[in-house]
Amino acid sequence: MQSPVFVGRREEIASLTALLERAADGEPGFAIVAGEAGVGKTRLVTELAGQAADSGFTILAGHCVELGAEGLPLAPLIDALRTLARTTARTELADVLGPARRGLGRLLPELDPGGAAEPAADGVQVSQLLELVLGLLGRLSARRPLLLVLEDLHWSDQSTRELVAFLIRSLRGVRVVLLATYRSDELNRRHPLRPLIASWDRLRTVQHVELRRFEPGEVAAQLGAILGTEPAAGLVDLVFDRSGGNAYLVEELAGLVRGGGDPADLPPSLADVLLSRVDALSPQAQRLLRTAAVAGRSVPDKLLAEVAGVADAEFYAGLREAVESHLLVVDHTGRSYAFRHALTRDAVYEDMLPGERGGLHAAYGEALTRDPDLAGTEVDSAGAAVPAALAHHWYAALDLPRALPASIAAARHALITFAPAEAQRHLERALEIWPRVPTRRSAPAWTRPRWRAWPARPPTRRAPSTARCPCSTRPWPDSRPRATPSGVRWCSTGARAPCGTPGASLRRSPPWRRRSPSCPPTR
Ligand SMILES: Nc1ncnc2c1ncn2[C@@H]1O[C@H](COP(=O)(O)OP(=O)(O)OP(=O)(O)O)[C@@H](O)[C@H]1O
Ligand SMILES: [Mg+2]
Repeated sequence: MQSPVFVGRREEIASLTALLERAADGEPGFAIVAGEAGVGKTRLVTELAGQAADSGFTILAGHCVELGAEGLPLAPLIDALRTLARTTARTELADVLGPARRGLGRLLPELDPGGAAEPAADGVQVSQLLELVLGLLGRLSARRPLLLVLEDLHWSDQSTRELVAFLIRSLRGVRVVLLATYRSDELNRRHPLRPLIASWDRLRTVQHVELRRFEPGEVAAQLGAILGTEPAAGLVDLVFDRSGGNAYLVEELAGLVRGGGDPADLPPSLADVLLSRVDALSPQAQRLLRTAAVAGRSVPDKLLAEVAGVADAEFYAGLREAVESHLLVVDHTGRSYAFRHALTRDAVYEDMLPGERGGLHAAYGEALTRDPDLAGTEVDSAGAAVPAALAHHWYAALDLPRALPASIAAARHALITFAPAEAQRHLERALEIWPRVPTRRSAPAWTRPRWRAWPARPPTRRAPSTARCPCSTRPWPDSRPRATPSGVRWCSTGARAPCGTPGASLRRSPPWRRRSPSCPPTR
């Protein structure tokens, strides 16, 4: 269904190739490729990566993962490290990791099999991680020039954004090109990536490539390459009209035409285009697709089978149909299925009824609680993806009593994996849920002694001063958080929980009235 020919984009490829050439001579390069969903960012980057590999570059790539409102912490870095671990000989890997082995092993245990995934005694040192990555890139690029691709920054977590900003600021005199992509149509005015992009646009060292939609001539070339024959002018006009020149939609429409559809009946709206091929599947395959869509862009086969809960024969027949229709693809591990394009996943998810969606989120929550290994090693490299997924699924299922401890567990794992901002986000979620959960017995065992220090119910307006911080025996006003160099605030007792915005607002209102966490339940 994809065009075997790479269409257009001559100027973009030329300017990015120049970046590669300069990097090979020791001048690091930075590029941000932006454009609407489906316009062709990944295809452009793949084309460039092919050229870079031919010129002797090492290619490391990673994707940000959409998981509810919170991205999975440092997912693209973990992806890239995994590729490094699996494509580098053991002795060479030990050399390039050098002193970073132990720290990066906290993100991806296979880098440091003997290491313990526990937070450092002195807290979460994000700055330390940044230095470790910088050192690693320096050692890697001393051997061969390196192209580091970080995809889909619109779904990035704060730690990933900090990493990119730090690398742009700090990479000097190394043979590295850092290429990041993001969907420009996902960046609303308050998106946290916006100010960063604006600041990078002011730097002459960062190249910003904005991909436009295809012109009619390019649509004709893409259609011709997919259909294997020169398309009639009328068909080109029709497809251009319906797709607006978006490469992904051109592919979808070409698929309908190739499947025998009448060009005159091409669906009129974007959602209709995306769902028309789904509608053509059998009811079993459609149900399987909806189940997969609730998991996210990709899902391990065992987890999907568990949640789908159908007999093997029906499961594989449905999967085969979805794969043969090019809606799902087997990912590079061979053990997970991914939507060929995130747009289709989004359309399938949005098209579901709320009750069906909630039920499936709950089924994923149950399955992952019963057997966390179902998440597969690919997504669960540091054990961090399962808690985050559980927090997401229980919250989306509106099962707040389970979402509460799951959010706290996710926060704890985020701390272990150098992601204090995500930890804070999970704790904010926990505080949001807290007053709506009637009993706190479902909290994990490690939180219980501290939970008891809290009043059973938020005190009335007249009694806030009697509330006690769980990390302290003193009343609220005295348990002030203190700042650390990493920007995380710790309770005055030295307990490990991060405290959010401190100070005057803390004194004025008790924590359950505030959106940001102050002293969340701690170990
Ligand atoms: N220049 C091109 N030549 C041929 N096909 C292309 C070209 N650009 C994009 N396509 C095809 O269009 C589809 C969508 O492209 P791609 O996945 O690169 O979009 P994207 O911008 O990365 O989207 P998203 O924001 O959802 O990640 C792909 O299947 C790709 O093969
Ligand atoms: Mg893409």
